Amino acid sequence: MKKSSQTSLSLFVQHFGPAEPKHLTRAPGRVNLIGEHTDYNGLPVFPMALQRGVSILFAERDDATVRLANLDRQFPACSFELSDDIEPDAPGAWANYVKAAAQALCRRHGSLQGFDGVVSSDLPVAAGLSSSSALTVAAALSLLHRNDIHMEPLELMELVARGERYVGTEGGGMDQAICLGGRPNTALKIDFEPPPLRLNPTPVPSDWQFVVAHSMVRAEKSGAARDTYNQRGAECRDALRRMTERLPEAAGASRYADLMALVSLKTLVAAADSVLEDPQRQRFRHVITEADRVEKAREAMVAGDIEVFGRLMCESHESLRNDYEVSCKSLDELVDIAMSSGAKGARLTGAGLGGCIVALCAAEQTTALVEALSREFYAPRNVSDPQAEHLIIAEPSGGASVIRL
Ligand code: GLA
Repeated sequence: MKKSSQTSLSLFVQHFGPAEPKHLTRAPGRVNLIGEHTDYNGLPVFPMALQRGVSILFAERDDATVRLANLDRQFPACSFELSDDIEPDAPGAWANYVKAAAQALCRRHGSLQGFDGVVSSDLPVAAGLSSSSALTVAAALSLLHRNDIHMEPLELMELVARGERYVGTEGGGMDQAICLGGRPNTALKIDFEPPPLRLNPTPVPSDWQFVVAHSMVRAEKSGAARDTYNQRGAECRDALRRMTERLPEAAGASRYADLMALVSLKTLVAAADSVLEDPQRQRFRHVITEADRVEKAREAMVAGDIEVFGRLMCESHESLRNDYEVSCKSLDELVDIAMSSGAKGARLTGAGLGGCIVALCAAEQTTALVEALSREFYAPRNVSDPQAEHLIIAEPSGGASVIRL
């Protein structure tokens, strides 16, 4: 057993007595390579699962109670009863991500039995690497396993994504889909429209390296960043409605995907200038140009064209900074350092407003890039070993699973 599971085991015994936990669920975090703030607009994304994630070491219970302790002391232990109407904790509480999965599964499958578990994670929290969705997925898989229920992965991806809206964030389906569907050495283009969602696995060239660097600015998905996130969604819906009302070629389109199938990108960008005002015009422009970049980026990865992929990442960052207005000073600084230290491209990843950037370099440039980020960004902030916490050399990894110990 690894050191972390031993610590989980002693915390388990401390909280729940000597009953033996026999199951371990592991759900990975993810880094989104391109396609940001597109998923909740029904447009594609292109993430990969990470080698880091959230684990739940658990023992089955014979009643409807779920009790959880967390190895990270900032998260207090919690306990609740499984039902199709579970009272949420205060906004921002970590237990809500577990309750989200539990309520969604009870609504789908009726009454369920619970478990006692210890949660641990080696993902930075509020960093845009989807630690919260990894927790939701880990809780869902643990419950399914406890109750001997099999669900098809695509159905589960959609159920958990919808279920997670319980926490009050009107998210799309990217995080849950990649967490469940991740594959080693592979990035996944995910298409949402028309449903059901589709996964398009694309091998990551072995001579490419993605490096993830934390801005050390927290972006709480169900905290302060939530209102901005939901507001962006509302602005995008408003922009779509106005465009479809005013553009004769777009008559009948009710979704971004329909609009982009009917009208060229160039025409849409030009039409937005006359139909919309800022900020709707900016949000609209980001969303449609970003969706266009996703397919181009996938093609560049297939062709092994690192220059084109990198350029698209930089365009994405610019669009997120200027049009979507979700960057911040530290994220821009990290992107600038990466780009002047051998990266082919760099951009904020995840919802933004803090969290991480992802940079792409040729594998042989990795050490130089990591050293430059350490020296120029982390050393002035008194972080002596950034790779312990803030810098991740990303390994495209497999999806969530449960094992019997
Ligand atoms: C968060 C959400 C995702 C997605 C990203 C932005 O991570 O959970 O669904 O919208 O923001 O691309």
